[in-house]
Amino acid sequence: KISSPASGLPLGFHGTAIHSHSLTDLEILENCFILVDKSGKIQALQTDVDPSQISSIISDHGYAPDVFPVKYLRWGEFLCPGFVDTHNHAPQWTQRGVGRGISLIDWLNQVTFAHEAKFADAEYAKRTYASCVNGFLQQGITTASYYGSHHGEATRILADICYEKGQRALVGKCNMNRNAPDWYRDASISDSLRETRALIQHVQDLDPEGRLVRPVITPRFAISCESELLSGLGTIAQEHPDLPIQTHFNEEQQEIEFTRELFPEFHLEADLYQHFGLLNERSILAHSIYLEEKEMNMMRELRCGVAHCPIANTTMRDFMIAPIREYLRRGIKVGLGTDSGGGYSSSMLDAMKQAFVVSIAQKTQTNGKDEPLSLAEGFYLATMGGAQVCGLEDKIGSFAVGKEFDALEIHTIDLEQRGVISPVEEDDSTFVIFEKFLMTGDDRNIAKVYVQGRSVKV
Ligand code: GUN
Ligand code: FE
Repeated sequence: KISSPASGLPLGFHGTAIHSHSLTDLEILENCFILVDKSGKIQALQTDVDPSQISSIISDHGYAPDVFPVKYLRWGEFLCPGFVDTHNHAPQWTQRGVGRGISLIDWLNQVTFAHEAKFADAEYAKRTYASCVNGFLQQGITTASYYGSHHGEATRILADICYEKGQRALVGKCNMNRNAPDWYRDASISDSLRETRALIQHVQDLDPEGRLVRPVITPRFAISCESELLSGLGTIAQEHPDLPIQTHFNEEQQEIEFTRELFPEFHLEADLYQHFGLLNERSILAHSIYLEEKEMNMMRELRCGVAHCPIANTTMRDFMIAPIREYLRRGIKVGLGTDSGGGYSSSMLDAMKQAFVVSIAQKTQTNGKDEPLSLAEGFYLATMGGAQVCGLEDKIGSFAVGKEFDALEIHTIDLEQRGVISPVEEDDSTFVIFEKFLMTGDDRNIAKVYVQGRSVKV
């Protein structure tokens, strides 16, 4: 029986906490006291608390203050919600940075499929996925939505490893039965669906309440799935109305044209996925770059989420800009994704900074109409926005009583390896310290990573 890390709870924190509930409201909570119960939920959250008041708050909540562990954060340290990576590929962990500058289809055929094919070997999968999940935790990614390879066994291993290491995760077996070499695709539609059902059952046995790990229905994209496979996945989605669904969506012109050739009955990808029952409030649509008016309306009405992957969108052959301001204006849910390996970096800080760059390019492109993303907005997309896209907004993404404590402890000073962060100075405001971390910090400043109150960074 596989088990998750020991809790060491309950636990209290006193100091600065920074989060956002909505796109524009960045909240800096000074002298905040957060009490986490033994299930990993936030039981109390109070601001402007003097350390002398802490023991009475602790006893008010039914604990003995003299033995209750409290962590006091110092100046230059703060808590923020863990990052939510709404889109990445676990089997591409060891190919990040390889094969840039070519088209998506060439990159899949020349680099990616051969790489993902290695996960036929369960021992290789165990080793590589352990390193991958550790690597994402190190970057402060407390929730990741993973595509696995097309292999059932390797993907079950990935789910086990996320659970064992205590990472919150959506884990999907990648469905793909065509337009890939015969040594790297599902042998048949029934095989593909059977392995998907086996993963769902496996995760249900592993984590019956889905407290940490959940399966996600994962057609790679329409190009790699025949109609019958997509409709089989739609049936599974209908049978499991609680499961999220993810796919690559309107990512590239060549991809869109090829999809139209394969499915001439649909002009729009949104119509195609909706036809197969795969477009709804549970859909996590990676890239979403070239949407027509009708598709944007459908996204809004059906409450689909966008996984914005600005690094991958600017690493392949073309510089592709997803019109994120337009989506936000229309009230479409948006989160950020590393798209690691199509994106060369597994850092959400890098993804956020690239989202800023791309949003400035979009301002130029729209003659000033689309305002670039602000710092607060970028941070929101990396935390609360991602939680919404993954259907976890009631559980994570910000700090509130009743939510689970998925958090990062950020240190900007006095670290042996402080890294490259812009030095924090005495007269810096909390906002400036936060800004320095987001814009110049890296994983060396992420001193601790908590998921459900457990310390999980290795
Ligand atoms: N479309 C289909 N598969 C992939 C993939 O692995 N990465 C990206 N970026 N796009 C895809
Ligand atoms: Fe991707």
